[in-house]
Order: sequence, then C-alpha cells, then structure tokens
Amino acid sequence: MTQDESKRKAAEAALEYIKDVSILGVGTGSTVNHFIDCLADFNLTQDIQGAVSSSIATTERLKKIGVPVMELSESGNLDVYVDGADEVNPLKQLIKGGGGALTREKIIAGASKEFVCIVDQTKTVDILGNFPLPIEVIPMARSYIAREMVKLGGQPIWRENYITDNGCEILDVHNMEIMEPLALEKAVNNLAGVVSVGIFGLRPADVVLVATDNGVKTL
Ligand code: 5RP
Repeated sequence: MTQDESKRKAAEAALEYIKDVSILGVGTGSTVNHFIDCLADFNLTQDIQGAVSSSIATTERLKKIGVPVMELSESGNLDVYVDGADEVNPLKQLIKGGGGALTREKIIAGASKEFVCIVDQTKTVDILGNFPLPIEVIPMARSYIAREMVKLGGQPIWRENYITDNGCEILDVHNMEIMEPLALEKAVNNLAGVVSVGIFGLRPADVVLVATDNGVKTL
C-alpha cells in the first residue's frame, strides 16, 4: 500500500467516530483531505450541520462539498475533532504543524471532547522530535525565539516565504529529541512571542487510527 492509500484508509476509519455528530472539528493536511473526500464519497454531508475548520485550505475544501463552515465561537465546544499528525508517540502525544495550521488545530483540539487522530504508520515513533518541531511566532520575535531554541538544544530553521493563516511566521526546529514533551511544551509556550508550539502533549489525541499494511490499528 502506498502512503497515500494508507492515509485514505485511516481517513475512512475515522467515519466510525462521527456518527450522530452534527458539528465536527476538521484539521488540515493531506490525510484530512482524504477524510473530507470520504464525507462526500459516502454521502455524509447531509448528516453534518456544520464544521469548524482549522485552516483556510480546509474551509475551502469543506465548502466545495457543501459542508457549512462555522466559527468556533458560534458553535461552542465540539464532540469530535478529526486531524492528522506529523509524529505520534505511544502516549498519543503528537508533533503537528507540518502544514502550518498548528495554532488553530490546538484551539479546536482543546475545545473538543474527542480528538481522533488519523495517520499512516510512518508517523508512529517512540520518541518525538525526528520531525522538525514547528513553532508559530509573532514575526518580531522570530530571531529571539530561534536563539532560545538553540539554548534548548535545537537547530531552528525559518520557514521562509511562509505566513500562517494568523499572519505569523514558523520556525522548524531540527534535532530535538523530546524526552519530556509536557515540560518542553510548557517551556516553549512561556517564551514571549510564541503563538504556539507543535507539541500536542498537554492535549494529546484521545484515539489514534494508524493505517498499516495489516489494517487500521487503534491506539
Ligand atoms: C497541519 C498538520 C497536519 O496534520 C500534519 O502536517 C500531517 O499532514 P499530512 O496529513 O499531510 O501528512 O499538523 O498543520
């Protein structure tokens, strides 16, 4: 199975979790794009009253298949949030933000009862940090945060010519071996100028659906 086929399998498996859900949280990325395609392919768009989207790209895709997009402030808290990840550890803690939507993803994850994470098996790791850790920063703080991340042992690279949906910038921090995800998440969150860090440890996934060559496994 190709990686893309695996992503589709994980996305299909998430449909089990959205039965009877009227307003859905929807993440960002190629795996989530498969999930949105599944909503259309299985004629589920009629059953959904609306969705809260984590990015402009996802909003456009949802609208194309006829799903109304709502603001989180009007919807209130959500029952289910479906999103992908860049890395997943056995505690269902994640690195996210490869697609740059980490802040809105974190907000929706925080406001959702159940976070269903859909990944192919290449995303599972024992220790987070092989994937460069994305940090969304206020533009003015970029170099300062980069220096602070060097002190924490990483090698930050500015994601050049990239502006987030919130008008901010991203640093991708390489070579972090994240032995204590919660402590690092708190430490980076505390740096002035950080909008959010792509460690999802304080609010991990509740369910991770991992598509493997032997079927979809549930963590
Ligand atoms: C976007 C994300 C994505 O969930 C993550 O990058 C995984 O993307 P893909 O499904 O394309 O592999 O966090 O900010």
